Amino acid sequence: MKIVVHIKGEAEQWREALADAFPEATVLTSDACAEERKNADYLAVWKPPEHLLREQTQLKAMINLGAGVDYLLRTPGRPKEVPIAKLRDAGMSELMADYVLYGVLHFYRSFDRYAAQQANAQWQPHPVEEKSQWPVGVLGLGAIGAHVAETLSQAGFPVSGWSRSPKRIEGVNCLHGDDGLENILSQAKTLITLLPDTTETRGIINAKRLGQLPQGASLINPGRGTLVDENALLKTLDASEGLRGAMLDVFPEEPLPADNPLWRHPKVTITPHMSAPTPLHDAIDQVIAYIRDFEAGKSVTTVDPENGY
Ligand code: GLV
Repeated sequence: MKIVVHIKGEAEQWREALADAFPEATVLTSDACAEERKNADYLAVWKPPEHLLREQTQLKAMINLGAGVDYLLRTPGRPKEVPIAKLRDAGMSELMADYVLYGVLHFYRSFDRYAAQQANAQWQPHPVEEKSQWPVGVLGLGAIGAHVAETLSQAGFPVSGWSRSPKRIEGVNCLHGDDGLENILSQAKTLITLLPDTTETRGIINAKRLGQLPQGASLINPGRGTLVDENALLKTLDASEGLRGAMLDVFPEEPLPADNPLWRHPKVTITPHMSAPTPLHDAIDQVIAYIRDFEAGKSVTTVDPENGY
């Protein structure tokens, strides 16, 4: 069996962990020469280069070393018949819940205002509203979104969650469909977007939907850059009755180009796609289990390329 790993900056750690789990296998990183890399049985990859996919002739499966499969599905040369398994939660949910909780508290406890005040040496405490008066909306209730919604609910915020198909999550008002989305948008003081990038979700946060949010609402997008219409976001941030602020971790083009106005917008906090990096120690067991199951001919939950997740 041959496994080839590609993940920027961490490939060698992944290679070692997989070589320990499969001592009989040849485990290489994509830095190996083309002759050695070809004829792999499995690719364990995050944002692989096109040639790595094109040169394979006998792949049994690809394992996506992340939660979102959009990059892999879009890679030209992807062999369409090869099944893809993706990481589900694998330690990312907890990291994401920390990031989002920080973001919600940032707005709820006025840290955005205090940062602006500090620049003017202005000492001005703001009253703290009751958490029950701070409804939060979570769009996307996959493994990660569901955990984020639960965490925010446990922290005391009223949480509504939205997904394509109906879901049930303890402590979360789960909604779906167009009505469900409108309902959430009309109430959310902080909106969190954790949807996958699909043809249906691209640009879902457009001018109309941003306009449905209550005045002074905030947006946190740690999901995918394509979910939010950037021009509409900038307009709503600049409108006097529009959004209070946005915390953005993901962008249609990454790294975010230096001349993008979001970088310098006073109401925007930018982080460099760091909200939930795949933690190797949690994810490795899932990757090993996938390979064992594929080898044993067991049924594996794979990605539906039509749905995009
Ligand atoms: C990161 O963006 C992921 O999809 O895991």
